[in-house]
Amino acid sequence: MRSLVRFQLAPHVDFPPGFFDRADPSPDAAFYRPLRLVTHIDDGAIAAVGALYDELGVGIGGNCEVLDLMSSWVSHFNETPRRLTVLGMNDDELSANPQAQTRVVHDLNVDPVLPFPDDSFDAAVCCVSVDYLVQPIEVFTDVARVVRPGGQFVCTFSNRCFPTKAIRGWLYSSDAEHGEIVAEYFRRSGGFDEPVIERRTPAGHLGDPLWAVWGTVVRLADA
Ligand SMILES: C[S@@+](CC[C@H](N)C(=O)[O-])C[C@H]1O[C@@H](n2cnc3c(N)ncnc32)[C@H](O)[C@@H]1O
Repeated sequence: MRSLVRFQLAPHVDFPPGFFDRADPSPDAAFYRPLRLVTHIDDGAIAAVGALYDELGVGIGGNCEVLDLMSSWVSHFNETPRRLTVLGMNDDELSANPQAQTRVVHDLNVDPVLPFPDDSFDAAVCCVSVDYLVQPIEVFTDVARVVRPGGQFVCTFSNRCFPTKAIRGWLYSSDAEHGEIVAEYFRRSGGFDEPVIERRTPAGHLGDPLWAVWGTVVRLADA
């Protein structure tokens, strides 16, 4: 029963042992080898992702160099960023992404260091995938390295996942706690200001719910 094995998660407290374990610890390369040209959330949730990017100005105007982390064949931008780099596990899915200019296959659970120079992007996004990271704080720290100061990192998520590949701490936490978990990744990475947590689909929304957590890159010299 989920309720019997809940993790006692409180902000600013260490993640308990086993939090980042997964039911299937085998290499992600094998799991993501089959082509999945599907959408992982419904149209209403996808629209909420695009609306948030618009609202935050991600990919728009001067914020046109964007990294989509843990990407596939869709990136959900209403307006295609002038330079969109997509990073994920399946080359064929990334190649089918019509908004991408640059495609990179890279396993963040093998190497959380991003294969990009410092200050490469105006912003980064990660849609419905943060729950698969086994070293999220290292990844978030590196996102703050490759995104220019003042740029945003926007994580969105719903209540669906590949359960064998999601970390245990995510599976045994509530939707509200997921926001706190991701916010804590931002805080512990040390590279962002205080993150914002928001439910982006209205309460009572009948389709897939959509939450977002985002923060702005702050370098030590700026803090
Ligand atoms: C649920 S799909 C979401 C895809 C896309 N972001 C979207 O919004 O439809 C999860 C994605 O995470 C990526 N992913 C999973 N594990 C990963 C890892 N270890 N390193 C990099 N990407 C990973 C996969 O390639 C897959 O495309």
